[in-house]
Amino acid sequence: MSGNFRLLKEDSQTSARLGLLTTRRGVVETPVFMPVATAGSVKAVPPEVVAGLSARVILANTYHLWLRPGPEVIRRAGGLHRFMNWPRTILTDSGGFQVFSLAPLREILEEGVRFRSHLDGAELFLTPEESLAIQEALGSDIRMVLDVCIPYPCPRQETQRLTDLTHAWAERSLSWWKRQDPQGALLFGIVQGGMFEDLRRASARTLVSLSFDGYAVGGLSVGEPKELLFRMLEVSVAELPADCPRYLMGVGTPEDILEAVARGVDMFDCVLPTRNARRGTVFTSQGSFHIRNAAYKEDFRPLDPACSCYTCRHYSRAYLRHLFQAGELLVYYLLTVHNLAFYLRFLREIRKALREGRFSAFRQEFYAQKEERAC
Ligand code: GUN
Ligand code: ZN
Repeated sequence: MSGNFRLLKEDSQTSARLGLLTTRRGVVETPVFMPVATAGSVKAVPPEVVAGLSARVILANTYHLWLRPGPEVIRRAGGLHRFMNWPRTILTDSGGFQVFSLAPLREILEEGVRFRSHLDGAELFLTPEESLAIQEALGSDIRMVLDVCIPYPCPRQETQRLTDLTHAWAERSLSWWKRQDPQGALLFGIVQGGMFEDLRRASARTLVSLSFDGYAVGGLSVGEPKELLFRMLEVSVAELPADCPRYLMGVGTPEDILEAVARGVDMFDCVLPTRNARRGTVFTSQGSFHIRNAAYKEDFRPLDPACSCYTCRHYSRAYLRHLFQAGELLVYYLLTVHNLAFYLRFLREIRKALREGRFSAFRQEFYAQKEERAC
């Protein structure tokens, strides 16, 4: 059911791919990193600046925007793009993950999930149909089906039950979708299956048989060892059609992203660059560091000598440390700009390496540099 994704190149030694994802708001080169704009804002940074860093897609959350300001406010504003002044592609998560991570007192029923708002305690009920109706009001370009993100660890029987429920919800989502006019918006299914290889395979197959525009791998990076994450990713991806986009939800560090690209993933989102920036952690080509460290008190070099972002062109580590210590709000903007520039450049370098047929060399170089940093 695709046609929205074109494979440009496949790496000869790994499962990595270079592709073009077309949404109704533009063409996106993949592998792509999507900055997180949970409540309709990439925290601390205006959308023009995010676009200036060459982001093509951002992710917003159905759960947060549903609770506040509410989908009808956003519909009347002319949709989320106009409301937040972001004209490029928006992907919305379904709310499943957020209900499971944020809302107290949740109860998973066949019909949907009952929970209390983490804002005011109001009792709410989210169904697969309601999630899609909210995403329709938001007007996002890529929409996710409501799923159950299974905690880790989880016994096999319970994993089986919750994965089956995710499948039933995926089916209901698709029949709701077919009764609407999606106006070029895309719908992605989400593979679950916990930490069981056969359940992962079966989940991927079930979703593929329903035929979505793209497939996400969910339920990973939930506290399991890295080895298990990548094993589950491999078995999930192996069942997905080559001509559809694949999205690994909520992952991860630059290294995680590189490894997932090598396993055939095309799309990523993660709060790490933005959240870490607000906590003072900076990503650089030499590894990450904390700006609060006394070592930077009189360090007048930029955050990363290899970075040409606005922050690195104009400000020193010493100044940024001072801002952070003084609680000056500007530091949140400056560090977020740098961390997003780092992530977006990293994905650009991955795409360039793929285009030039040297992805494996790029990957080796990444680890060689990491060794160096450790010495
Ligand atoms: N974000 C990170 N993991 C998940 C997941 O399993 N499901 C959804 N809907 N969103 C996620
Ligand atoms: Zn920078």
